[in-house]
Amino acid sequence: MNIVTGSDHAGFDLKHSLVEFLEGQGHTVNDKGTLAKERCDYPDYAAAVARAVMAGEADLGILVCGTGIGMAMSANKIAGIRAAVVSDVFSARATREHNDANVLCLGERVVGVGLAQDIVSAFVGAQFEGGRHQGRIDKMMALEG
Ligand code: RB5
Repeated sequence: MNIVTGSDHAGFDLKHSLVEFLEGQGHTVNDKGTLAKERCDYPDYAAAVARAVMAGEADLGILVCGTGIGMAMSANKIAGIRAAVVSDVFSARATREHNDANVLCLGERVVGVGLAQDIVSAFVGAQFEGGRHQGRIDKMMALEG
């Protein structure tokens, strides 16, 4: 899979380890930054990843900040993005299968590396189930106006 990643300074270390993890699993990763641990603003990286996903540069996006929350709020401002903050494996799978999430948001201050790897594996490995969920996604996306 082609995956685009991004983080702010607070998510830098976890993102770096997840990029290595994903590449080790055979995925192609395009990291949009931040590239150093200097303080920066998470909306800049959320926008870069969200726009890359919507441009078809990647199948899925992964964003990391301190909590994952600011990244999700920002990414969801980009039309077509369904970004989910996840801190457990069940939700990681469910948000792909039911919500057709296209961006996963993680908090480095919330989850450890091992759990984050399991969350990412579940997210990347799951598929949207369609069916009864498609109409709900259509209603959700119609809310964008
Ligand atoms: C940075 O201190 C922190 O606010 C940011 O990484 C994120 O957690 C915001 O949602």
